[in-house]
Amino acid sequence: MKCCVIGLGYIGLPTAGLLASKGFDVVGVDINERIISIINKGNIHIIEKDLEKVISKAVRDEKLIAKSKPCKADIYLIAVPTPFRKTKDKIPQPDLSFVFQAVKSVAPYLNKNNLLIIESTCPIGSTEKILDLISKISNLDISDINIAYCPERVLPGNILYELENNDRVIGGISQKSSNFAKSFYAKFCSGELIITDSKTAEMVKLSENSFRDVNIAFANELSMLCDEVDVDVHELVSIANRHPRVNILIPGCGVGGHCIAVDPWFLASQDKDITKIIQTARLVNNAKKDWVVNKIKKTVLEMEEVLKRSVSIACLGLSYKPNIDDLRESPALDIVMDLINSSMKVLVCEPNLKSHPNIDLCSIDDVILKADLISILVPHKEFYNLKLSEKKTIDFCKALRP
Ligand SMILES: NC(=O)c1ccc[n+]([C@@H]2O[C@H](COP(=O)([O-])OP(=O)(O)OC[C@H]3O[C@@H](n4cnc5c(N)ncnc54)[C@H](O)[C@@H]3O)[C@@H](O)[C@H]2O)c1
Repeated sequence: MKCCVIGLGYIGLPTAGLLASKGFDVVGVDINERIISIINKGNIHIIEKDLEKVISKAVRDEKLIAKSKPCKADIYLIAVPTPFRKTKDKIPQPDLSFVFQAVKSVAPYLNKNNLLIIESTCPIGSTEKILDLISKISNLDISDINIAYCPERVLPGNILYELENNDRVIGGISQKSSNFAKSFYAKFCSGELIITDSKTAEMVKLSENSFRDVNIAFANELSMLCDEVDVDVHELVSIANRHPRVNILIPGCGVGGHCIAVDPWFLASQDKDITKIIQTARLVNNAKKDWVVNKIKKTVLEMEEVLKRSVSIACLGLSYKPNIDDLRESPALDIVMDLINSSMKVLVCEPNLKSHPNIDLCSIDDVILKADLISILVPHKEFYNLKLSEKKTIDFCKALRP
């Protein structure tokens, strides 16, 4: 079986590698020529556990090749970005332009024996719109078009394992499409394959991430309240969680990444009047990073008053979550940029990146030695058990007590 994977990013590349390792002939397609050239040399452009080994073997064995255009295949799998667009009425709107562009690029190759799988996170009703689009631009009869919406729920840092072992949701546009998709995933997934309709599958994915966002917002809101009344939020959470039916999450600097910080807007954009909790959670999580900036600035002012000189701040971590290099929607990155733009003296350490276009990165030892105030923004493993001696430290993410 030949698979064409459209979009070779955090989702598409590991999927292409896994399929190749399971014996499929895989053509990976991306519009970014730099990515194509890196992959065809057997290398990778993202940090992901074990991925480099899998890709270099797949390329060496001629089971995977990267190209700039799709070609004839049995299965087409789309994993392109679905960002949001900010609008005047304040509810950000899903941007499906990459998905529609990718669908248009494969439409000329589709026949009735093919299956088109959409793994990109999409708003409710997108699969039906894609069916409509294909029926207009291809010669296929609508009943011969096979499409399944199969959202991806992997955890960056553990993608290869989860691609194979997680349960999967399969939302076919028809029973025939669902059965086709189920038989495809059964060839390389050991998790349960759950069939539903496309709209339910779309909404399941959005609901999962909105659930996470709402729960994180609760923890973040508590953390701000705790600071005001001088209570240790981590002690509070650990005691409250002794209640058999309570499970409060660990607060951090906000919420980032391409999923949890984005997908709730896709639900909210559906109806802004009945999605109040979802919208409020987004606002609370976004407000947490402003709160962190203000907390750092206030502490700097207090220290400067005592020391009678300017104070430098170490910011530990830039990525949106621990132990990865992904900066998308990262609260830590926004916090650091805000401090730099406020002309504060900032020293930044991000162990998962070699460089950043706008920020000079330093080693951990350097920032700890030179800074007066240490702020820990992301609980990377390198920050556990740091020896900070007498340095004034604010641990915003429980890195020192992992
Ligand atoms: N990253 C995650 O952890 C994660 C988890 C679950 C779901 N998702 C969803 O999966 C989708 C992909 O996310 P990602 O993180 O892999 O994105 P990404 O930005 O890492 O990769 C997307 C790739 O698609 C390419 N691309 C864009 N338009 C294209 C086109 N028309 N043809 C070919 N290639 C094209 C881009 O150049 C890029 O390399 C998104 O909808 C995202 O919400 C991501």
